[in-house]
Amino acid sequence: MVPHYYNYELMKKINGDTQMTDVWRLPAIAPWEKSCGKHPTQKPLGLLSRIIMASTKAGAWILDPFAGSSTTGVAANLLGRRFLGIERENEFAAISKARREEIENIRTFATYKRKIPDIVKAEDTQTSCFACHEDMIESLPFLGEVEV
Ligand SMILES: C[S@@+](CC[C@H](N)C(=O)[O-])C[C@H]1O[C@@H](n2cnc3c(N)ncnc32)[C@H](O)[C@@H]1O
Repeated sequence: MVPHYYNYELMKKINGDTQMTDVWRLPAIAPWEKSCGKHPTQKPLGLLSRIIMASTKAGAWILDPFAGSSTTGVAANLLGRRFLGIERENEFAAISKARREEIENIRTFATYKRKIPDIVKAEDTQTSCFACHEDMIESLPFLGEVEV
């Protein structure tokens, strides 16, 4: 069993030093997030990044059994977490794979992190919630290909 984890201090810091509430106002998904194709219900990276920072530690494994375009996986890897996704539609698994390949480019990886305000704020604080260096990217597993 995995014990409950909530990074109260980090959530407070990214919320301007006041307690994070349970109502979040985040921008809608941006066009750069759809650079590998469109999924009809793709979530914003800012949303999944906040959820992952709030509830996991660096190096954690994150499972999304309904991965879609794997926003969870991209956010997980940007934050130094490992990811396992399951998706039944080949079209969406292909978008997931392309998104993973996209962030294997270290410049894209760094650019995407800079586009997510919570990640920028978290990295500016001393309460580091992740340690992900460029040479770690290849060791962050993502979606495997399985023949069925
Ligand atoms: C709401 S979408 C996930 C969107 C994702 N959060 C994103 O940002 O792209 C749910 C996904 O679950 C997939 N799905 C539904 N039933 C499934 C099943 N039994 N096994 C695997 N994937 C499934 C659908 O094809 C769909 O892409």
